[in-house]
Amino acid sequence: MDLTHRPRRLRRDGVRGLVSETSLSASDLVAPVFVDATTDERQPIESMPGHERVPLDDAVARVEEVLETGVEAVILFGIPESKDEVGSRAYADDGVVQEATRRITGETDAYVITDVCLCEYTSHGHCGVVEDHAADDPDLTVDNDETLDLLAETAVSHAEAGAEMVAPSSMTDGMVAAIREALDDAGFSDIPIMSYAAKYESAFYGPFRDAADGAPAFGDRRHYQMDPANRREAGREVALDVEQGADVLMVKPALPYLDIVSDVRREFDRPVAAYNVSGEYAMLHAAAEQGWLDLDAVARESLLSIKRAGADLIITYFAEDVAESL
Ligand code: PBG
Repeated sequence: MDLTHRPRRLRRDGVRGLVSETSLSASDLVAPVFVDATTDERQPIESMPGHERVPLDDAVARVEEVLETGVEAVILFGIPESKDEVGSRAYADDGVVQEATRRITGETDAYVITDVCLCEYTSHGHCGVVEDHAADDPDLTVDNDETLDLLAETAVSHAEAGAEMVAPSSMTDGMVAAIREALDDAGFSDIPIMSYAAKYESAFYGPFRDAADGAPAFGDRRHYQMDPANRREAGREVALDVEQGADVLMVKPALPYLDIVSDVRREFDRPVAAYNVSGEYAMLHAAAEQGWLDLDAVARESLLSIKRAGADLIITYFAEDVAESL
């Protein structure tokens, strides 16, 4: 054959690495850590093999394990000792995340990001204050504007405890502006906000809701998280967060939403984060347990693909395993 172009020429070892367009590094990864105020012992998370909820006294040790793999950043989620209608333990100075943050930033070099939301802290499990309606009222929803102050208070309490970045995940309209203003007023103008800017109402969060005990007691999150059918709407959501001062823009979930990651990369000049969520982790593990997939290989390929689509950083339950294999 007289072929002018033979793309295979550049696929051999030796040159392959030289022309590779994307690379993965431990410094791109953020490991989620669950701190549980209701237990004295580590509790395995059944639907997320290899992950545990750790008691406060183990928070530092858990983060040290992460650091040993080369991963330098963690995002903290808390399971509080008690819940109420208004999620008081989310913004309590001695709350589980505040206490864990104080210890971790005091004793390790990890970069500590905190998830700012109310769903793990409210008795009804919604990401904000619920309107005064009967629980079976089909119109019942989260009161957007009432929730803003509580999110702002939560973010400030995390910063006071030493959090280096806050990540609001409740999809409350105006949350970035409210948090930015509150942080600035409290003297934290140097703390960046990573907004869960395009967060979809996804069934892939199932294992996380077991892990963090944050499933809604009634209804679902359709009235505040985005409809998986919508692509252009993500552009509008992200633009609002940029206007309000978001420093990093997150798309969540990651793998089923790579078109959105790619759009945000192209349309906005801000760092892009992608959250490779609990269900994405659980399904690869389940298939690997059956012997149907090579876990290391598919985990690495997943993260590489998320970067190729345009993510600068990835929050992933695979962080430690992949960092170790790099
Ligand atoms: C809190 C929050 C959720 C996740 C991250 N922050 C749950 C949700 O929105 O239901 C999901 C993460 C995952 O599935 O790994 N709002």
